[in-house]
Amino acid sequence: MMESLQAHRKNEHVSLAEKLYSQSHANHPFDQVRLIHNSLPEMALSQADSSIKLGELNLKAPFYIEAMTGGSKQTAKINARLASLAHQHGLAMATGSLSVALKDPQTQSSFAIVRDKMPTEPVIANLGASADLEQAQKAIDILKADAIEIHLNAAQELVMPEGDREFFWQEHIKELVNQLSIPVIVKEVGFGMDKKTIAKLQELGVKYINVSGRGGTNFAAIENRRNHQFDLSMLNDWGQTTPESLLEARAIKNPDVAIIASGGITSPLDVIKAGALGASAVGVAGHFLHTLLHDGDDALDRELNAWQEAILRLLTLLGCHNFAELKQAEVVLSPELDDYATQRGL
Ligand SMILES: Cc1cc2nc3c(=O)[nH]c(=O)nc-3n(C[C@H](O)[C@H](O)[C@H](O)COP(=O)(O)O)c2cc1C
Repeated sequence: MMESLQAHRKNEHVSLAEKLYSQSHANHPFDQVRLIHNSLPEMALSQADSSIKLGELNLKAPFYIEAMTGGSKQTAKINARLASLAHQHGLAMATGSLSVALKDPQTQSSFAIVRDKMPTEPVIANLGASADLEQAQKAIDILKADAIEIHLNAAQELVMPEGDREFFWQEHIKELVNQLSIPVIVKEVGFGMDKKTIAKLQELGVKYINVSGRGGTNFAAIENRRNHQFDLSMLNDWGQTTPESLLEARAIKNPDVAIIASGGITSPLDVIKAGALGASAVGVAGHFLHTLLHDGDDALDRELNAWQEAILRLLTLLGCHNFAELKQAEVVLSPELDDYATQRGL
């Protein structure tokens, strides 16, 4: 049977994300952040604990597999492979947007496979911010999800030839946060957030904010490759990087709101730097997809082991017993990032 336009688009997103992967990491924003070495850690590696509590979610590691796929035959297979590895390593995983599954019930199994493979680990559903309560509940039911991400992707939609052109999202977000009984994470898709957006989301009652910044997967570049009608390549450098977004969030810190980092996370050191800039958890999308598609399942298996071990060692080196203690770690910013912080009054 022919797959829908949405299924075809998802396949294109996967192949273009992979094609543009190395290009998107040419200027790595996390290189603009340095951690300060401490010669007296006063702790043992055995005391380092990399598990985290994200509100009511208990995660074995501070990083999880971020929202990407589902909705087509090809991406059902990717979901199954990622979810098997997430289960093996006790990691949480978000699926790609379930909007296609709401329109075409035949595609539901391409998402539900994630829960089948991950009977006990946290599974996170994903939908756009125009979703209503009924749609969100349906998406949660398909996955028996432990949390739901609501994505904000105005920049992506406006570059897409077939994208949305109306963005009235705040009332929806408020309703979802007030009515759903599981954590609602509001996330960007790689363009970052500024302090005004973060403050507004807090005002709407959002308790989990994923700043998902520029520096990794670039949906302006991906959609520009798909859009042959109209040149919007001037948006290829649009948005705040993930470190910039974390500095924006830190400027209005609120102990009741967890900030999640994603966008351009490619190593355990990036995970630690994100923690030092105030992130409570970290999502990784394009890099894990690249390892899976380019190097295979065994390579991603080895990488997930290596990340977990490296995070424990880095915590020990910094004298931090857990990920939350990283918020006290000292960092030095590059002149460029420091200039951004100064101009933004952060
Ligand atoms: C192939 C692909 C598909 C994606 N689909 C979704 C999606 O359906 N919903 C969403 O919220 N984010 C989606 N994203 C965005 C990621 O969740 C993440 O916010 C963004 O890619 C930045 O992280 P990265 O640099 O680690 O890739 C997708 C990313 C990729 C690579």
